[in-house]
Amino acid sequence: MNAPLAVVTGGAGFLGGHLCRRLLEGGFRVLVLDDFSTGDPASVAALAEHPGFALRRHDITQPWPAEVGEAARIFNLACPASPAAYQRSPVQTTLTSTLGTWRALEVALQSGARVLQASTSEVYGDPEVHPQHESYRGHVNPIGPRACYDEGKRVAETLCMAYHLERGVEVRIARLFNSYGPGLRPGDGRVVSNFIVQALRGEPLTVYGEGRQTRSFCHVDDTVDGLLRLMDASIEGPVNLGNPQEYSVLDLAERVLRLTGSRSRLEHRPLPADDPKRRCPDISLAERHLGWCPRVTLDAGLRDTIEHFRRELTSAR
Ligand SMILES: NC(=O)c1ccc[n+]([C@@H]2O[C@H](COP(=O)([O-])OP(=O)(O)OC[C@H]3O[C@@H](n4cnc5c(N)ncnc54)[C@H](O)[C@@H]3O)[C@@H](O)[C@H]2O)c1
Repeated sequence: MNAPLAVVTGGAGFLGGHLCRRLLEGGFRVLVLDDFSTGDPASVAALAEHPGFALRRHDITQPWPAEVGEAARIFNLACPASPAAYQRSPVQTTLTSTLGTWRALEVALQSGARVLQASTSEVYGDPEVHPQHESYRGHVNPIGPRACYDEGKRVAETLCMAYHLERGVEVRIARLFNSYGPGLRPGDGRVVSNFIVQALRGEPLTVYGEGRQTRSFCHVDDTVDGLLRLMDASIEGPVNLGNPQEYSVLDLAERVLRLTGSRSRLEHRPLPADDPKRRCPDISLAERHLGWCPRVTLDAGLRDTIEHFRRELTSAR
């Protein structure tokens, strides 16, 4: 009998590459749909030899190829995650989360696949409640520079629940908080990759505002473990997946300097519009329903990520 098929949209991206490897190890065949707008086929090059792996260049807002009809699982990860990337093409970002998610759900309706939607802590916007529990409805600017991402993901959640309630499609919604680890791209524009690359190059670390804004940082191994557990669990509403340890951006910068041994200085720039001031998940739902909590400490995860960037920057010379 054929192994079950998992379709991974955005599978050539940071999280997607790790997820595809874990799915193949778990006995799935994997079909990736990716338009390579922020992802890179090189990130899954190591999987290309696997007989159960297939990669298609495809924009998920366009009608999906017929081969997805066999899917038992659809992980809908396609969407740029870095603010710099999603703000470059706000129309396409919005359509990817809305039209693209609608197409995933229509495929699932036909094939009976279960869909996991990669949502985000950005659905909470600049939160007024702390830490953020799934019941918090958020504080999002619908027309600001982050809206294409935040509101696109909110509509994607709405579509998932509507297809579930009205048409019986099985859905899972992961509200992911910042994830980091090997596989991040040097020019990606996320805070962890920015700081590490700047520190390794001896350039100033760019800190927005005073750096007192907080974030939570979840290592990619923990994030992917959470995604796999959630897909197999029986909980239809959104579930936060993130590290409940809260760190200021300044603290992160100081750790990166210590762990890289860099003498870079900090350079402060004005805070971007609508930048969230505090961000930290309440993960009690994930603990209860998935038996999940993050295992990798920030220092261990940063060491691992720094090694990845040292290799990347050396091979780019
Ligand atoms: N990494 C995080 O910290 C984080 C946090 C919250 C949510 N998420 C969500 O997880 C998912 C994956 O994030 P990531 O960090 O791997 O981002 P990423 O930018 O590295 O990967 C996204 C992938 O989607 C592809 N893509 C974008 N638009 C597409 C389209 N229209 N059709 C087909 N492919 C398309 C890109 O080429 C890329 O390979 C995203 O949906 C993101 O919103 C990630």
